[in-house]
Amino acid sequence: MSFDGVEDFRRGAEAVDASLSVLKARNARYPHIPRPDLSWTPEVEAATRHLYQKVSKVIPAAEWPVMAPYIKAINELKKIRHAVILAHNYQTPEIFHCVADYVGDSLQLAKLAVNSDADVIVQGGVHFMAETSKILNPSKIVLMPDMDAGCSLAASITGSDVRLLRQKYPGVPIVAYVNTSAEVKAEVDICCTSSNALRVVESLQSDRVIMLPDRYLAENVAAQTNVKIIAWHGACEVHERFTADEINAYRDTMPGLTIIAHPECPREVVEVSDFAGSTAAMIDYVRENKPKRVLLVTECSMADNVAAETSGTEFVRPCNFCPHMKQITLPKILDSLIYMRDEVTIDSAVAAKARKSVQRMIDLG
Ligand code: 13P
Ligand code: SF4
Repeated sequence: MSFDGVEDFRRGAEAVDASLSVLKARNARYPHIPRPDLSWTPEVEAATRHLYQKVSKVIPAAEWPVMAPYIKAINELKKIRHAVILAHNYQTPEIFHCVADYVGDSLQLAKLAVNSDADVIVQGGVHFMAETSKILNPSKIVLMPDMDAGCSLAASITGSDVRLLRQKYPGVPIVAYVNTSAEVKAEVDICCTSSNALRVVESLQSDRVIMLPDRYLAENVAAQTNVKIIAWHGACEVHERFTADEINAYRDTMPGLTIIAHPECPREVVEVSDFAGSTAAMIDYVRENKPKRVLLVTECSMADNVAAETSGTEFVRPCNFCPHMKQITLPKILDSLIYMRDEVTIDSAVAAKARKSVQRMIDLG
C-alpha cells in the first residue's frame, strides 16, 4: 500500500470510530423503549378526556378510542425523550390539538422551536419544514415521522436549477419561498413566506426579482408591486385546483359569506376573495373578525382545526387534501419517538448558506 493509501485508510478508520462514538452516545442518551400498550382502557379515557373536549366538534366519539391510546403514549414519550412536536396548521385535529406543543405556519414553527429547551423536535408537517427546523435549530435532533412527506412546490426546483437561473439573469436577486429544500435555500439571496413575500421583494430595491418556486404566489405578489417578477413554474398541487368559478358559486348561493384564500391559489381565486394570507394570517383573520360564515380556500384540516376552537362561525369547506401532510399520523409520530427516527440531516456547508437566506428574511422583521 502506498503512503497515500495508508493515510486514506487511517482517516477512514478515524471517521468510522467518530461515527461509532456519536452513535454510542446517542444510544446512551436515548435508550430503547418498549412499545406501549395501546388498548382503550378506563385509565386512557380518564387521561385523555380533557383533550377530547378540545376536538369533540370535529372528531366523532366513535373514533376517539382508536386515537386516545396513541395520544396518551405520545404525550408520555415526549417527556422521556425531551421532545417537542411542531404541527403545521394542515395537520389533522388529533395531532394539532392533542399532541402538538407548537402550532403555526411553515416559518412560525421553526422559529418557535428555537425558544424551546427540548433536545428533540418531531415535525408534524412536510420535509421542507423539518429542514427549516434543522436549519434554525442545528443542535437539536429533528425527526420526520415519514420521510416521504414531500411537497409539489419543493419538488419543482433543485439547487442546480437556481444556479442556471443565476447564469441566465446575472445580478437579479433571487427570492425563495420557504417551501423549498435546504439545497435551494442555500443558493438564493433571501427567503420569503406567503405573508411577507411582497415586503421581501420590495426590500431588495431592484427593478427585477426572481421568485421561486410558486408561480401563483409570484403572480399574486406581482399584482401588488411595480417590481418586475420573474417566476419559476412550480405550483402547489392542493391550491392550484381551486377556481374562481367554484368560489363565485359559493358566493352566489351562500349569503353573507366571507372568503379567505391562501396566496398559493391562482390569481383569479385571490381576486374574488375578501382576504389572502398565510395559514397563520387566515386563522388570525377569523379570530379577529369573527365572520358569521367563512370559506377557507385551502387545505381541509385547517378549517377543522379552527372550527374546533371557534364558536359562532360557520365553516364552509371546499377543501382539497394535501396527500403529503396526511402522511403524518399518530402511529408514525409514536414510532418516531420510540425508535428516534428518521433524523433529518443537512450538510453543514449547505445548512450554513441556507441559514443566511432564512435569517435575512427574519431580520426584516
Ligand atoms: P404557510 O403555512 O406558510 O402559509 O404555508 C402553506 C403551505 O402550503 C404549507 O405547506
Ligand atoms: Fe406543499 Fe401544497 Fe401540500 Fe403545502 S399544501 S405541503 S404547498 S403540496
